[in-house]
Amino acid sequence: MKICPDCKDVIMYCKCMEKYFEKMKSNNKIKVVELFAGVGGFRLGLEKYNFEIVWSNQWEPITKTQQHASDVYVYKFGENNHCNEDINTVKTKDIPDHDMLVGGFPCQDYSVANTLKLAGGLKGKKGVLWWNIEKILREKKSKKPKYLLLENVDRLLKSPASQRGRDFAIMLASLSDLGYGVEWRIINAADYGMPQRRRRVFFLAYHKSTNLYKEMKKNEKTWINDSGILAKSFPCESESQIMYHKSEINGTLEKLTKNFNKNIKNNKSPFNNSGIMINRKFISTKVSSIYTGKRTKLKDIIISNKDVHEDFFVDKVVAENKEKGWAFHKGAKKKIRKDKKTGFTYTFSEGSMSLTDDLNKPSRTIITGEGGKSPSRTKHLILNKGKYRRLTPLELERLNMFPDNFTQKGINGDILASKRAFLMGNALVVGVVEKIGNELEKRIKNEI
Ligand SMILES: C[S@@+](CC[C@H](N)C(=O)[O-])C[C@H]1O[C@@H](n2cnc3c(N)ncnc32)[C@H](O)[C@@H]1O
Repeated sequence: MKICPDCKDVIMYCKCMEKYFEKMKSNNKIKVVELFAGVGGFRLGLEKYNFEIVWSNQWEPITKTQQHASDVYVYKFGENNHCNEDINTVKTKDIPDHDMLVGGFPCQDYSVANTLKLAGGLKGKKGVLWWNIEKILREKKSKKPKYLLLENVDRLLKSPASQRGRDFAIMLASLSDLGYGVEWRIINAADYGMPQRRRRVFFLAYHKSTNLYKEMKKNEKTWINDSGILAKSFPCESESQIMYHKSEINGTLEKLTKNFNKNIKNNKSPFNNSGIMINRKFISTKVSSIYTGKRTKLKDIIISNKDVHEDFFVDKVVAENKEKGWAFHKGAKKKIRKDKKTGFTYTFSEGSMSLTDDLNKPSRTIITGEGGKSPSRTKHLILNKGKYRRLTPLELERLNMFPDNFTQKGINGDILASKRAFLMGNALVVGVVEKIGNELEKRIKNEI
């Protein structure tokens, strides 16, 4: 009769064995909830490794009756455990327990805390979707996920203009109050050889109970540049010690809302492009990428003109027209504008940019308005083999490192090209998530 070294009971009948079988049953994968899932960029990146999406949520508020992102998601991954409802209406008890929560929460409005109320607990401004994440973590209590992986636009670290960095400070403080330590970094996918110049802030949170949290606490000096998950996934070096910032986020969330960075003369955000936060104390510094591998250029991902539908070609006259064509939109201009609210008039000016995108560089960032025929400053225009044209949905998918034609169909049939462009403008560069997933899996596999 063998005795279990842990609980001292008879092996096979002991609690540890029960736990072991329980774990085996649950297939040992890292269980992930994907919020604001879009067409599943996080899922594509993470499921290459030992992660499994056990529940996902996606609901498009702009087109309530047409849910293209969710339709594509279900078409690709099946309807099991997918929820196409406004996250504001979802009850935490209906979200299964999970090891990790991921999501690129919408960024139109994250002026997080303007109307924070403390009424029986924290209540956030409706529509500011950060608070939906916070609410799930709070209501899950002891079952809260051990890890978070979140993504947002890089200006989150500086918003709002009147109190630079306040919104991020509130997020860090609320995560700290829920028992998490955080590391963050602005990553430009193109700095690591990927086809799109897309700068996004990625932040990872580790619960106090995890080894990663303990390791980060022990190695805070090397975590940002060397030993952290982000540093291992995306090697980097400090630009300058002068940018190094060490400080503490003090006060209740309400006080932070009112006072954070209010009276500082230069009104600079204390958050540089990378940092860590433990127990409301943060260290932030400016790093730059170290990368010597292959660099993907726009020309590497474009398809032959003969495979492009005629809708995407732009007539030379329209492209080069400086009065109302593409050349006008991409050109320098000065305009008198009137502020609708205040009636105040001001001169708006913008410089010129190249009419066509350089095929020998990674692409500019794709935004949601990339689709449609009308000339625009922000859309891509390429000159390929003497012909002007816009980028096709398939090329936009490649810029985000999605599989070819991933968004071509949803459960309700074909998706229009302009909608596919919208979906890619909202999505992320899958290669970035893959790299983080790979490193994270190695470091947490023994804890799951
Ligand atoms: C920045 S995108 C994330 C895209 C995603 N990472 C991907 O790979 O496609 C944010 C997503 O949140 C969704 N969303 C916005 N408001 C929502 C709400 N109230 N409930 C659920 N999803 C919402 C949007 O439709 C959008 O697809």
